[in-house]
Amino acid sequence: MSFSAGKLILFGEHSVVYGGLALVASISRGVRARVVQEAGSEKTEVVRKAIEVAGGDSDIKVKIESELPVGSGLGSSAAVASSVIKTVREYLGKPIDQDELFQLTMECEKVAHGNPSGVDPASVVYGGLIAFIKGEPLERLKIKDPIKLMLVNTGKPSETTKEMVERVANNPDKEAIIKDIGQLAERAKKRLVEGGEISQLINENGILLEKLGVVGERARTLSEQLRGLGASVKITGAGGVKTGSGMMIAKAKDFAKIRKLLDNSQIDYFETTVGEQ
Ligand code: MEV
Repeated sequence: MSFSAGKLILFGEHSVVYGGLALVASISRGVRARVVQEAGSEKTEVVRKAIEVAGGDSDIKVKIESELPVGSGLGSSAAVASSVIKTVREYLGKPIDQDELFQLTMECEKVAHGNPSGVDPASVVYGGLIAFIKGEPLERLKIKDPIKLMLVNTGKPSETTKEMVERVANNPDKEAIIKDIGQLAERAKKRLVEGGEISQLINENGILLEKLGVVGERARTLSEQLRGLGASVKITGAGGVKTGSGMMIAKAKDFAKIRKLLDNSQIDYFETTVGEQ
């Protein structure tokens, strides 16, 4: 059996595809996979590719249990690929190190995403809180004060990550927005490491993602409501516009009012802490 943790992007999704900095943290929820003899889970394209790159035969069956909503910004496809590769390699008696696991998970991400930056596989494979720039060695961050966050489900996006990345590519104003997001991530990194408030920066990144055109009406309305209750919010991951926009980060001094609103509106959420040693 092998486990791979999901991830949440604190700052820098989409701009990371263009070479900007992203800050990403692994979360305690994730995906478990094991090789089974009886009927396994249905094989998605990513699962088939993961078995193949791990060197397994196509008749290998795997059972997958996921705590991550699919396609909702928490790195579900990278976590599925990584956990399947690990369990197949265990089964074949060929242990895998982290660097090879990263390379192979990245191969599978290409099936799911087309042109991935690699931020999802990096987080899922190496864990912790990392500063990631495409094609560069990743940097592990030690943050001064752990951050308590709420992850709010704005609904499953109708679009794939690939479609959302393409949508950004077609936005004529993308250059300036992407540059601003990258700069925000740099400022946030400094504050996280040295200590300091990042609430305002979360909000600013959230608003820039709205301008970039990756946040749908439902998530924008919810953002306004949560901001009205004093929270800082941004979507995390690729987003979505037609229906849901996936998971949204909410940070607040007092979560009680937010919990009440979400409970009354029957919106799913969970709480997590980033940066605990
Ligand atoms: C998806 O979790 C993050 C994106 O920036 C895509 C990528 O970096 O490959 C939207």
